[in-house]
Amino acid sequence: MRIDVFTLFPQWFNWFFQQRHLTNAIQSGGLTARLFNYRDYSPLKHGQVDDTPFGGGAGMVLRVDVVCAALSAVYGGDCRAVKRKQPVFLLSPRGRRLGSMLLDELGSCGDFTLLCGRYEGFDQRISDHLATEEISIGDYVLSGGELAAMVLVDALARRIPGALGAEDSVRLESFSAGLDGRREYPQYTKPANFHGWQVPDVLLSGNHAEIEKWRRKHLG
Ligand SMILES: C[S@@+](CC[C@H](N)C(=O)[O-])C[C@H]1O[C@@H](n2cnc3c(N)ncnc32)[C@H](O)[C@@H]1O
Repeated sequence: MRIDVFTLFPQWFNWFFQQRHLTNAIQSGGLTARLFNYRDYSPLKHGQVDDTPFGGGAGMVLRVDVVCAALSAVYGGDCRAVKRKQPVFLLSPRGRRLGSMLLDELGSCGDFTLLCGRYEGFDQRISDHLATEEISIGDYVLSGGELAAMVLVDALARRIPGALGAEDSVRLESFSAGLDGRREYPQYTKPANFHGWQVPDVLLSGNHAEIEKWRRKHLG
């Protein structure tokens, strides 16, 4: 899966893509990530990327001609045709909420593009004509789409075989089919007793059938 991220702040991703599960996913060949800065493709003087909103109001809006130029330069041809080659997802608080079902879809849709907004967001024509769909990571407003893109990429990358040390982590985690889509049972580690806070006896019993029963009973 190749994920192309368009952003005004590619440097935000420097730390992110150095994290172990991401380097594992990349080295395994399961994930390729590319970063593109809208500003590098601006057809405007001085690399301008945004402008004031028609109708007035605070802030700046990302320009449709700039996003179009960036998509054309990276994929070639008409920017309107890009979404026919691979999905173009625009990150926005107005979008479809990211959850495990949408992650399943993203995990099987092949290569895709993420558009990160900034300031007041995107000119609506970007969503209407250049994007496949808007995606939101929750009902709150971030300063930019970069963290939203990282959340999405992180959640997808950990599902790539080889990304995590223990494959069971993904098979049996919250929302997975292995746990019937439910939230994970409580986990404990040493010490078994801390300030009188005891780990449930059954987890120390070594009786795997009973442990399994206890865990099933404590799914969220
Ligand atoms: C400050 S926000 C724009 C908010 C917009 N004016 C509004 O009121 O909905 C700037 C950018 O951050 C990103 N963003 C903010 N919150 C987000 C969320 N919950 N999910 C996904 N992206 C988000 C989007 O790319 C957005 O264009």
